[in-house]
Amino acid sequence: MKGIFSALDRQRFIYLTGVSGKKPAIPTDLNTLEALAKDRMSPEAFAYIAGGAGVETTISNNRHGFDQWQIVPRMLRDVSQCDLSVQLFGQKLPAPLLLSPVGVLEMAHRKADLAVGAAAASLGVPYIFSNQASVAMEKVCEVMSDSPRWFQLYWSRSNELVESLVKRAEACGCGAIVVTLDTTMLGWRLRDLDMAYLPFLRGKGIAQYTSDPVFRRLMQEPDDNSAPAPRQSLTLDTLLSVAELMRAYPGGLLKNVRSRAPLKAVRKFINIYTNPALQWDQLSLLRQYTKLPILLKGILHPDDARNAIDLGIDGIVVSNHGGRQVDGAISTIGALPGIAEAVNRQIPVLLDSGVRCGADMFKALALGANAVCIGRPYVYALALAGEKGVNEVIRNLVADFELTMRLSGCRSIDEITPATVVKSELSK
Ligand code: GLV
Repeated sequence: MKGIFSALDRQRFIYLTGVSGKKPAIPTDLNTLEALAKDRMSPEAFAYIAGGAGVETTISNNRHGFDQWQIVPRMLRDVSQCDLSVQLFGQKLPAPLLLSPVGVLEMAHRKADLAVGAAAASLGVPYIFSNQASVAMEKVCEVMSDSPRWFQLYWSRSNELVESLVKRAEACGCGAIVVTLDTTMLGWRLRDLDMAYLPFLRGKGIAQYTSDPVFRRLMQEPDDNSAPAPRQSLTLDTLLSVAELMRAYPGGLLKNVRSRAPLKAVRKFINIYTNPALQWDQLSLLRQYTKLPILLKGILHPDDARNAIDLGIDGIVVSNHGGRQVDGAISTIGALPGIAEAVNRQIPVLLDSGVRCGADMFKALALGANAVCIGRPYVYALALAGEKGVNEVIRNLVADFELTMRLSGCRSIDEITPATVVKSELSK
């Protein structure tokens, strides 16, 4: 079998080590993985990662969307060999899989983005660095050698900051910039609201900012557009929250207390990290900042896909942000066929939100995606078993995908065509 992944080796390894009583570090079923991670993570951390917008219908739509398609396996096609590799933006990937950007990984594991970066690099799977990372991109690169990484950009109110982040990503060897379009403000997230907990206010998930020279300059400048913060009463909780913030911020507790830098950083961050005024024509500015391929993440309508192509965008990610932004939204697999038709293979189409097994990957590729991304599953694996957990969750998912592919009669990614799936009878 070509490539770094081999489903049969993975199966063999698990069954053979089982003979001496050893079990894998994480369960193969991603729902069980989520349940175990819930017990391991703090209630706030789990709520932030698992939660979605509103009553979380989009999260369930994403899952049910996959159930509406069924694979039709073909027989006797010599599937003794199989090639999982794909080409994306001139790079050969070992499998059609990337790791989505997920912020605030320090809430899942102390090594956070470093553990994920190392696991992704050990398998050659691209890791899309989060704009809301817990560890600055420069540090994560150090553990990734030259393996593929991209950068997710939140378009800030400061174009100067956007340019600085993009230039840093280039210097870090990122292979693409993925602009997240769907989070120009945070969705109405009931779990977080009921806990009254937003990690950024505790100084978590803002490492790309606090390590940025433009941001560090901007945080010394007053904000003209900020709404006055509600007056805080001085309670034990206030003191504990401030202490948490002072500790989370780089530089040492005493220095931070004296300079009040963490408070300034959080205030500035809240005021500039998203830009609800963003419009299509501003995207051309990004072209001036970088020669890297630019992907738009959050596309759910064929006309938005057409707009992207008209603007010379290099790729799109069909995504609803894991159901975290608009409640009751279309599933990504439901949106994919219309978008694939509009794109007509002119640029790569990726899909995330709700991918939980090899069959989901197969269905997404059959309906026109060039690759898929996973988010929450690797965070749960990280919470349970650090780098090893992330490594295993990737290998398990790809093994499941490979077996789905071969047992369905496909030997290469090109053979996963629309003819390999049908709409389920129940969904018609
Ligand atoms: C931000 O990226 C979030 O989804 O919380």
